[in-house]
Amino acid sequence: MTRLAVYPGSFDPITRGHEDLIRRGLAIADRVVVAVATQMSKEPLFTLEERVDLVKTVFGRTPRLEVRRFDGLLMDFAQALGAQMVVRGLRYVSDFEYEYQMALMNRKLAPEIETLFLVPAFDLTYLSSSLVREVARFGGNVRGLVHPAVSRALTAKFRSTHRSRR
Ligand code: PNS
Repeated sequence: MTRLAVYPGSFDPITRGHEDLIRRGLAIADRVVVAVATQMSKEPLFTLEERVDLVKTVFGRTPRLEVRRFDGLLMDFAQALGAQMVVRGLRYVSDFEYEYQMALMNRKLAPEIETLFLVPAFDLTYLSSSLVREVARFGGNVRGLVHPAVSRALTAKFRSTHRSRR
């Protein structure tokens, strides 16, 4: 049996923390599908296409890894793929409540799919897409926090945002 893990998220944009989690997912599953959410509660910085393309750029042709977009319920998507597990990262205590609620609700929707919480590398624990966006927005250095392609995309995005506001 092929063990398929879905790693869902907004990836707005993908960070070194996400990359770390994807590699950990690949170590425990036969295949990993990175599932980029179409619908988000708040307006994303990057379009869906940009978020998907950045994940693809960062990982290139990595064997056993696929990048897909999804809309609607995560569990419908995971069931349609025949996934056995959903991987989520747990960084700090503040993540826990939301993640726990989501895992329980997801189990109610699809009892056969397990949620696996993985802990990121020590130096990536305090990293989030929102912090990266914030730093980049004000011209700060995000080297080491994101792949160079993501760093370039952030610079271009904020340059065009600033220009369009002028
Ligand atoms: O990177 P994020 O923003 O923490 O990802 C959250 C995401 C996209 C994984 C979550 O919001 C989600 O699964 N959305 C799809 C809709 C859904 O299934 N919601 C019910 C979860 S209980």
